[in-house]
Amino acid sequence: MPSLVSPEVELAIKGFILDQEKMAEVVERMTKELKMGLAKDTHPRAVIKCFVTYVQDLPTGKERGRYLALDLGGSNFRVLMVTLASDSAGETISKSYDFPKSLMTGSGKALFDFLAECLAEFCKENRVEDETLPLGFTFSFPCQQKGIAKGVLVAWTKGFSCEGVVGKNVVTLLQEAIERRGDVKINTVAILNDTVGTLMSCAYHHPNCRIGLIVGTGSNACYVEKTVNAECFEGYQTSPKPSMIINCEWGAFGDNGVLEFVRTPYDKIIDKVTPNPGKQTFEKCISGMYMGELVRLVVIEMISKDVMFHGDKSQRIQKAWSFPSSYISDIESDPPGEYRACNKVLNDLGIIGSQESDKEALKLICQAVSSRSAKLCACGLVTIINKMNINEVAIGIDGSVYRFHPKYHEMLQFHMRKLLKPGVKFELVASEDGSGRGAALVAATAVQNTAKL
Ligand code: BGC
Repeated sequence: MPSLVSPEVELAIKGFILDQEKMAEVVERMTKELKMGLAKDTHPRAVIKCFVTYVQDLPTGKERGRYLALDLGGSNFRVLMVTLASDSAGETISKSYDFPKSLMTGSGKALFDFLAECLAEFCKENRVEDETLPLGFTFSFPCQQKGIAKGVLVAWTKGFSCEGVVGKNVVTLLQEAIERRGDVKINTVAILNDTVGTLMSCAYHHPNCRIGLIVGTGSNACYVEKTVNAECFEGYQTSPKPSMIINCEWGAFGDNGVLEFVRTPYDKIIDKVTPNPGKQTFEKCISGMYMGELVRLVVIEMISKDVMFHGDKSQRIQKAWSFPSSYISDIESDPPGEYRACNKVLNDLGIIGSQESDKEALKLICQAVSSRSAKLCACGLVTIINKMNINEVAIGIDGSVYRFHPKYHEMLQFHMRKLLKPGVKFELVASEDGSGRGAALVAATAVQNTAKL
């Protein structure tokens, strides 16, 4: 059967293909960068920072108590209250708050005042405003931690750019905002990355879990390292605890140019219009914030070449960021030869009168972008597993791309198997409660450790 798709589309898609050789090269380069982040002497110039998280205890299942959690860093902002009881009796109450887009680029003060306002409202609604509950703050941006409750923001990512926050301890900014209000008492006992919450909540049920991965708006992973290898931790040689969770911040991989061989012209266009050009190179090839825009850029080029959608340039799809990554999950969920979800997307975009060849081309473009994303994530996970030098591991995963894309899990698994040494066993586990249970578990550990001092 002749291909329905034009040579121009095929050529554009080709740029996204990563063959086995290229994937092996990604693993090799990433291994080098990961090691640089971990080692004290190379850390300052490393792009994959491998931040020490000060989380050294995996859950035992014996954690108890009531904790608050804040979750900032994905597509919405949430406040949670988690009761850790015996395995079956735990409870989580959570509320999502509409996060005005203007807050992402406004002042830091406005951002933290908003967080404190939602938190106060939540405490009042749940009648805990007079208690001083310990809080775990899931703050999913690159932070240099100086302790379990001290995290200095290194850079904003994912479209945030609030002024006055980079270089500051975000726990202090949060506590100050709470104190400015004066109507609730909160004790922020821990700050954590979403990957760490994901690892912890997965480890609660899967004792073999040693890696946490997020493929959502952004992308990143953390893993359990031997404390003696966490050279940037002041007590790395003396700590009585054998493990330290490392927040890789792998999104920055490639910021020094080592990923140019996988980038396409479309990646470069996106990078230029983001608030952080030249930064988060790996993340921009992988995560949900950018996948839809990559598809859109290919499509509008094909429209301008008159090989898709009758060359009609009047459609809404011409508008930047008008193609969310959720459309990719929708389009790829259609069975071969059927276009039900695709038609709905086209309808949403106001594209009418498209032909089967247009829909087939659109699907292939989506597949090209999502499969490159899954391959790169597989490379990242294999890099970490090789570095850990283990033969069996469970990986806790969360994020909208992983959760909603119909084939992401299978793709990730398939490519990891092809890249890993024979005999290495792994399990990919959806871990949905990182910012709730995960944050509470980190907070519980923090409280316990302080009590021991
Ligand atoms: C941030 C990470 C975070 C990831 C997933 C990235 O942009 O730098 O800290 O874990 O997004 O949310």
